[in-house]
Parts: sequence; structure tokens; C-alpha cells
Amino acid sequence: DPIMPPDPSSHYSCKLAVEDNFPRCSEFLQCCPPYQDQNVEVTDYTFPKTSLRVRRPIQDVANDSEYMEKYKTAIQKMKALPETDPRNFIQQSKIHCAYCNEALPKKCDPNATISVHNSWIFLPWHRYYLHFFERILGKLIGDDTFALPYWNFDNPNGMTIPSIFTDPDSPLYDDRRDTGHYPPKIVDYKYKYTDRDVTDDALIAENLAYMSTTFKEGVPLPELFMGDSLRAMENPSNTSPGQMEVIHNSIHMWVGESKVPHRDMGTFVTAARDCIFYALHANVDRLWSFYRALRSNRYEFKDRDWLDATFIFFNEDGQVVRVKIEDSLNASKLCYTYKESPAPWLGQVA
Ligand code: C2O
Repeated sequence: DPIMPPDPSSHYSCKLAVEDNFPRCSEFLQCCPPYQDQNVEVTDYTFPKTSLRVRRPIQDVANDSEYMEKYKTAIQKMKALPETDPRNFIQQSKIHCAYCNEALPKKCDPNATISVHNSWIFLPWHRYYLHFFERILGKLIGDDTFALPYWNFDNPNGMTIPSIFTDPDSPLYDDRRDTGHYPPKIVDYKYKYTDRDVTDDALIAENLAYMSTTFKEGVPLPELFMGDSLRAMENPSNTSPGQMEVIHNSIHMWVGESKVPHRDMGTFVTAARDCIFYALHANVDRLWSFYRALRSNRYEFKDRDWLDATFIFFNEDGQVVRVKIEDSLNASKLCYTYKESPAPWLGQVA
């Protein structure tokens, strides 16, 4: 059977999130949605018929002051929403925490919890997460073309922490990062909390080779790229993440604080409290769309347990909506696209 979230209209108990590096009473582990214990109505999401949103690379938006103003204003407004509003910035980050750190019980078994990492659920779930986050931002500034930028870490020009996130006076700033990795430090796709003693050029070459290998090996083998299958009754601690997720994990660790518990980006409980999270994920999502194009947009898995896996989010009006993986495979339903930018490793793949 496919993964299903608990039905929020029935009484259920969302749990404290689990993350060993935080004390049990830590407020960071309280990630349950604000509709807890209320009677809420969940509806199937109606896919918006609005203008196309075009996500652009960071370097592009960084020099577009009009865009940057909008982006910052939208984030500021999201941070300023009342704490109980599900569209509030911290509430949004808690969605990630709840779905990632074992807070939400499964519909099929309230004693087991959902986790959207380490499996074939990873890419589609995060695609939806960004979709709703982006639409909420657009709504807050009254712009239905607003699109998140993508951090093109797969391009040598994008292999440092983007400067739009390092200005302490900007609402995009987060002071819980490893500042030792601020520019001009080059990201390491294989980072595991130790900086390796290699030159920048060598690291860039290694990253590019790793990216093209990931694609070359992954195109014929969706499980390798996307992650292992995960069905309703299974537990993701027995599954392996896809290669795309593995690279992404290293980038999380590389951005987050070096001291335990590695806030914010370095631990899923707090990762989405850093605006850089969404730019990172926009690129992960873009890379997935390259992957899909290389496979002529065929379904990665025809398995109904994948296609019918269902999640609950808040739409831009704060209503609780239900979506399933199959619909995330149709970019025109989601009304967004990526502005092209050079992907120098891609030539090695096709
Ligand atoms: Cu749910 Cu980048 O992680």
C-alpha cells in the first residue's frame, strides 16, 4: 500500500519529533501542525491555473534589485505572520520537521511514523513542499508569478554559499551556519563534517565528476537515483536514499553549524528555518527534472504504491490539502519551470 498521512479530521496524536541531539523537552521537537485536535477539513488540492512561475539561478536574481526586494519582503511577511498561522515561516519549517523526524503517525498504523527521507518519497515530497512555500510567498506580496531562486551548486560559479544569504541585515540571513564555509569556500558533495585537504580546482572537478556519474548510473536505475521503495508498512531505516539525496545531505551538513546539534541546515528538525534550504531544494528539484528529461519523462516507477503516496500540506490560503505523487510528475499542473543556466557536467551524461 502507498504511504498515507493520518487523517487530520479524525482525532490523532502527532508526536514529539525525534532527534537524539536535542533534549527531549526542546521546543525544536514540537513540530506538530497547528490543526492538532481541531476538526479540520482536508480537501483534494485543486491545481492552480495561474501564470507560469520561472525559477531563476541565484546569480541571476542577485543582480535584480526589484526581484530581491520582493523576495525579501515576502520572507519578512511570512516571518511576521502570527505564530498560529500555518503559513508562518516557523510553522512552514515545522512541516519539514514533522514529516522528516517521526512526528506524524501513519494512517495504517498510528504507532508508526512517516518519514520522507531515505526513499523514493524524497524528491516528490520536497517538490510539493517548495510548491506550497513558493505560492504562499507570492500570495503575501500579491504576485502570482513569484518564484523561488535556485542555488545552482552544480555549476562551478555556484559552488559557494550564495552571497544573498550571507548579509546579516537581510531577512534571508540565518546565523546558525558553519561560517567557516562562507565564500570563497567550495562546497564538497562528499562532506561528512571534515574539510578535506584538496585545492578548489580539484574539489570543483570532483564535484562535477560526481554529478555526472550520479546521472550516468542513475538514468537506467531509478532506485539508485531516487531511493529505495517505501510502502505504508515499511520503515525508512531499512532503506537507502537515492544518489541525489546523498549529495543533498552533504550540502546540508556543509552549510549547518559544525557544533552538535548542527543547527539549522545540518539537522532536519531545523533545516527549513534557513532560507537557503529552499534555494538548495529548488536546485535538487531542477536536477530531478533533468533526470526526468533524460528518461523522456517516463514514470520512474509504475508502482501504485509510489504514484498514490499521499501527503498533506497547507495551500496559500492556509487550507489543508491533500496531494499525491503522481500529480507532482506533471510540471504543467504545478505551473512552474526553471530558467536555463549552464550545467557543465550534463554534457558528460547524455
Ligand atoms: Cu527534507 Cu533537504 O531535506
